[in-house]
Amino acid sequence: MKFDTPAGQNPIDQMKVVGQPLDRVEGPLKTTGTAPYAYDWHDPDAALAYGVVVGAGIAKGRIASMDLAAAKAAPGVVAIVTHENAGPLGRGEFYVQRFLAAPEVEHYHQAVAVVVAESFEQARAAAALVRVDYVRADGRFDLAAQDGTAPVAPPGGVAPPETRVGDFEKAFAAAPVTVEATYTTPDQAHAMMEPHATIASWDGDRLTCHTAIQQMNWGLRDLAATLGIPKDRIRLVSPYIGGGFGGKGTVQTDLALAAVAARLAKRPVKLALQRPMMFNATIHRPATLQRIWIGATRDGRITAIGHDSLSGNLPGGRTEPATLCTRPLYAGADRMTRLRLAVLDLAEGNAMRAPGEAPGMMALEVAMDEMAEKLGLNPVAFRVLNDTQVDPERPNIPFSTRPFVECLHTGAERFGWDRRVAKPASVRDGRWWVGMGMASAVRAAKIAKSGARVRLDGRGIVTVETDMTDIGTGSYTIVAQTAAEMMGVGLDRVIARLGDSDFPETPGSGGQQGAASVTAGVYAACEKLREAVAQRLGFNSAEAAFADGMVRSGNRAVPLGQAAAQGDIVVEDTIAFGDFQKRFAQQTFGAHFVEVGVDADTGEIRVRRMLAVCGAGRILNPKAARSQVIGGMTMGVGAALMEEMAVDRRRGFFVNHDLAGYEVPVHADIPHLDVHFIDEVDPTMSPLKAKGVGELGLTGVAPAIANAVYNATGVRVRDYPITLDKLL
Ligand code: MOS
Repeated sequence: MKFDTPAGQNPIDQMKVVGQPLDRVEGPLKTTGTAPYAYDWHDPDAALAYGVVVGAGIAKGRIASMDLAAAKAAPGVVAIVTHENAGPLGRGEFYVQRFLAAPEVEHYHQAVAVVVAESFEQARAAAALVRVDYVRADGRFDLAAQDGTAPVAPPGGVAPPETRVGDFEKAFAAAPVTVEATYTTPDQAHAMMEPHATIASWDGDRLTCHTAIQQMNWGLRDLAATLGIPKDRIRLVSPYIGGGFGGKGTVQTDLALAAVAARLAKRPVKLALQRPMMFNATIHRPATLQRIWIGATRDGRITAIGHDSLSGNLPGGRTEPATLCTRPLYAGADRMTRLRLAVLDLAEGNAMRAPGEAPGMMALEVAMDEMAEKLGLNPVAFRVLNDTQVDPERPNIPFSTRPFVECLHTGAERFGWDRRVAKPASVRDGRWWVGMGMASAVRAAKIAKSGARVRLDGRGIVTVETDMTDIGTGSYTIVAQTAAEMMGVGLDRVIARLGDSDFPETPGSGGQQGAASVTAGVYAACEKLREAVAQRLGFNSAEAAFADGMVRSGNRAVPLGQAAAQGDIVVEDTIAFGDFQKRFAQQTFGAHFVEVGVDADTGEIRVRRMLAVCGAGRILNPKAARSQVIGGMTMGVGAALMEEMAVDRRRGFFVNHDLAGYEVPVHADIPHLDVHFIDEVDPTMSPLKAKGVGELGLTGVAPAIANAVYNATGVRVRDYPITLDKLL
């Protein structure tokens, strides 16, 4: 199916199942601990061996020699993978890190060996006996030190290195009111609960991996490139994933090296990355150093807006596209965005939830707050004044939908924003200074080609198969809801099977495009199934109505399953997009409102209340969508107040590489979270008229907190995270 006319009335609009706040279909498996995650996969006949990765003890240099004698002689050791026996390893397309030091060491904890043994304990003990001598080289670990010299990024990332409209410099110089400020955001870790883990097994030249990976198509592509084998010899199985946030987008060290180890050991190998290796040997959200320039008229209209962001990466790595948010968000005739890239010898920087918009908004939205204050305007009113209904970089391109002003007004009203006192440090509640802050939210609404296979059996059960994954988001549930709505059955008559690369291809879980893309693929396949059912039953497919488990046409009514009485009906279809992506700017919008208390003596910051208002097309399942948004809000509290991978600038590694040292919010840090969705549909997105919401819920949260801290205390912190020492 090609999606090239705006979605009209269709079965989804009944909203009997879609749009309902239904419980997760896989919830009982999760809450009873019986959902099989990658490392849980168990095959009693498989003769599993266990791999433990040895990570490099230096950040930059080379392996001079390795002494494996003691490790080889240790009990239970089956094989040891090093660059000498691993064979050539290629690189992926999205994550570009190399999975094995060979023998050059490119970052701290890059794998130098995998020790494979009969048991995990034996492998771990033997891994400690591997002796490596290194020749250390000087590395570059300090982003700020490269600020003066880092060039504009080469083309090829997810955002253009530079965009310009009009003459930004001239307009900024001429603006009556200006704000120019520098903001920094630190390296951040995805810190998902489930570690990166794989069980790899070869059957001749065919490889099957039970693993944790968000995007099957990327996984096949990148594993094939890494191992130098055709991707049709690889099967990835990933039915349950304990959090991803972009860190499991595609192949990581566990998957690549489990496959190599299993080939060498000639048996299946099970391998999970140790928690510290997840910080230094996988990807992370890289630190940024951002400059924002806003010029405005005295009555608050933005005339010039500029955003420069510097991030670092390994050679060949991408920028953190922090300027993405500034391109579509506000009006302003003269504009400039620029991404600069420095070479750093730290682990690879790459996608973490709302890559680009999340750290970009941490700068832009504080600058907006600073400008509103200079202008003497209410921050909400200042944003409303600078709304635009066309893409400011492409003035002939309208937004498909843009309920941004509605988000701002609705949020202000629901939060009680009119009670905010504009003058900072004005409100006391006992020992707490109290402040309110707000910020906008924006994130691209992407969608991509998506396939599904559906089967109807004689009992009337509809089984859906796609390679979509569920990283804790509710994919199973919205896939099942879509099929149920289309086929006129209850959720209990639908089985969703996900996370197998042998199933039809989808873009998977990433870029908040999964929900909209995958349900559209299911829609397309179900359209085909409805036709096949009508044909089997001898109905005119245009007239057949599917409801309550029955198919009706004229005065005939037949149970759905009867169409498959003579044998299952299996159909497959794919839906492709592209036309509307050229004609419309498709984005999701929102607004965040926060109240904080800051201890007058210690500077301790407590978030007291939060509200998110989101405009993201049709909300397929309000309960699952709310979960996504409160997850984003929680992550935003971390970004604002806690999260930072501390760089050892001498030795070149992230020091706090575990969940004790890398602080994220816990329950006690999170107050009541309120989420409100704007009632809208976007008929240019897909037949479901839906967008994603998982990343939108994060963008804007941290700057809203920063702005609330300023309102509470009068201290403007431009260097995240906002820890209490920065307030004193
Ligand atoms: Mo996301 S960072 O595209 O999983």
